[in-house]
Amino acid sequence: MSLADKDRIFTNLYGFQPWNLKSAQARGDWDQTKDLMSRGQDAIIEEIKASGLRGRGGAGFPTGLKWSFMPKEPRADRPSFLVINADESEPGSCKDREIIRHDPHKLIEGALIAGFAMRARAAYIYIRGEFIREAETLFAAVQEAYDAGLLGKNAAKSGYDFDVFVHRGAGAYICGEETAMIESLEGKKGQPRLKPPFPAGAGLYGCPTTVNNVESIAVVPTILRRGAPWFASFGRENNKGTKLFQISGHVERPCVVEEEMGITFRELIDKHCGGIRGGWDNLLAVIPGGSSVPLVPAAEIMDAPMDFDGLKAVGSGLGTAAAIVMDKSTDVVQAISRISYFYKHESCGQCTPCREGTGWMWRVMERLRTGDADISEIDTLFDVTKQVEGHTICALGDAAAWPIQGLIKHFRPEIERRIRENGGALEAAE
Ligand code: NAI
Ligand code: SF4
Repeated sequence: MSLADKDRIFTNLYGFQPWNLKSAQARGDWDQTKDLMSRGQDAIIEEIKASGLRGRGGAGFPTGLKWSFMPKEPRADRPSFLVINADESEPGSCKDREIIRHDPHKLIEGALIAGFAMRARAAYIYIRGEFIREAETLFAAVQEAYDAGLLGKNAAKSGYDFDVFVHRGAGAYICGEETAMIESLEGKKGQPRLKPPFPAGAGLYGCPTTVNNVESIAVVPTILRRGAPWFASFGRENNKGTKLFQISGHVERPCVVEEEMGITFRELIDKHCGGIRGGWDNLLAVIPGGSSVPLVPAAEIMDAPMDFDGLKAVGSGLGTAAAIVMDKSTDVVQAISRISYFYKHESCGQCTPCREGTGWMWRVMERLRTGDADISEIDTLFDVTKQVEGHTICALGDAAAWPIQGLIKHFRPEIERRIRENGGALEAAE
């Protein structure tokens, strides 16, 4: 299972050609966009549903279904909006950045078509504050599209008026959560809202809104041009299409690459990354989907299909498909402790289990790292992660809990060894 060059959607992922409109058009972007739109809004939504595309931001919600929640006849005083999540901040994730750097017109054309399909008046692209160069590229690409008549009044001569606004974030991870992003766009402090209502019911300025990830939107024009059956021919049931994988850590050549959903971890690494540093016997564990999903030990990840169901079967998740590879030189307790610190730092603080729990979990993780703990605290920590999980307003609480659960499940002997080597704490426990 492996993707041929002719089947890649992102043909300029490495920036070998310029990102500008002229080059993008030479690669096939903005080709007969008007004709794609003339198929009609419902037909486009049905095509995206048929393609099997699931959200590429991490949660995997079916994209066409999400669009179908938007009103078919928006009220004049309550317009619909598309918000594109370009606040890519998940540790390990770096795919949306590459799309914006080298293929921004795929995103902008996708915004027009998706916005049209869901009857939105405008798209807001919320880009991570730290992406300074990428934001410059995006601003320039949007301006090119306006200058060429592809956005604005009668966009791409489709008869549809559509605007795209680029909004820069200010460096908060939590603003990647869709309702925090909406709050931030409204000029407020970025804090998640309770769901329901979901954004399609009450989103930006209380209006119907769909929030989609950059990759989800950027693949739309190609899916429509090549057809839903083409996209659905990759991967397997419930896990269709091609996907951008991001591989970092202890491989010979870290990279971002488009591959078929369901490629095994081993094939992905051997084919695109030159193998594991020091060989496969040197692999310790992998966090396969960005820091919010549990780590998986070497023996279980090697032949796992890299898709939603394949990674669920090994107790983890596809998330953003950002694989963080750790070889045997890794201090895995320290690695998870560092991730815990990240979530503590990024918690918005509005709900107690997350605000208090993330700090508490990090402090215990630090003591487990140094071995300055009691063996019984491992179970206590596990219990606390279970009390945080599912009891918070947004998924950050779960994201803080899961890596620790994965560590305790798979590396308990290593944690115990540290405590033992530290001496007194173990004796106290016994
Ligand atoms: P979620 O499962 O709550 O929602 C996913 C999407 O489906 C949302 O747009 C939501 O509005 C929609 N949805 C879900 N149920 C619905 C319903 N019943 N009716 C209407 N719409 C519904 O997940 P969430 O919190 O949006 O995302 C969590 C994921 O985000 C994590 O799995 C993580 O992998 C990923 N993530 C990605 C980051 C990045 O940098 N790309 C950063 C942090 C997390
Ligand atoms: Fe804020 Fe954490 Fe609650 Fe999410 S889970 S709303 S980040 S305090």
